[in-house]
Amino acid sequence: MDPQKPGIWSRRDFFSRIGWAGFGVFSFLSLIGFLRSAFPRVLFQPPSTFKAGFPSDYTAGEVSDKFKQDYRVWIVREDEGFYALFAKCTHLGCTPNWLQAEDKFKCPCHGSGYYKSGLNFEGPAPRPLDRFQITIAEDGQLLVDKSMTFKMQAGAEPDEQYPQSILKA
Ligand code: FES
Repeated sequence: MDPQKPGIWSRRDFFSRIGWAGFGVFSFLSLIGFLRSAFPRVLFQPPSTFKAGFPSDYTAGEVSDKFKQDYRVWIVREDEGFYALFAKCTHLGCTPNWLQAEDKFKCPCHGSGYYKSGLNFEGPAPRPLDRFQITIAEDGQLLVDKSMTFKMQAGAEPDEQYPQSILKA
């Protein structure tokens, strides 16, 4: 072979090909990045509001589990009105259970207990259960908005901390 005549795999060709290959990979990754930004991944989250039926569907003194599974919310009806409790223990976030016979919420994880109002009274929970805003929708149904949280502080009755968390209906 003529040493002056470069072969198909001369050193310069080799590096040129590596260069082009690198450019190709870069371009391909850039294209992927562009396409991903053009079609952002959508996070399917449950809507923050939900309708919880008509006030007449509830009886005074009732703690309804109906929306606990799907929305992690208890609807409580008392004589003075409705409130929506977040079914999330304020200790480490487990989901408590409503124990009708004992008239309290009890967390299965470390034993925190809460009165029907959400006030903590036993176990390691540091503060009462939070509440969500509850209003009446145009069609007359209860409307819970989970984006509007009444965050409870330690050591005070939830009704006194946030009287506006109670829907008079
Ligand atoms: S998470 Fe409820 S008591 Fe610990």
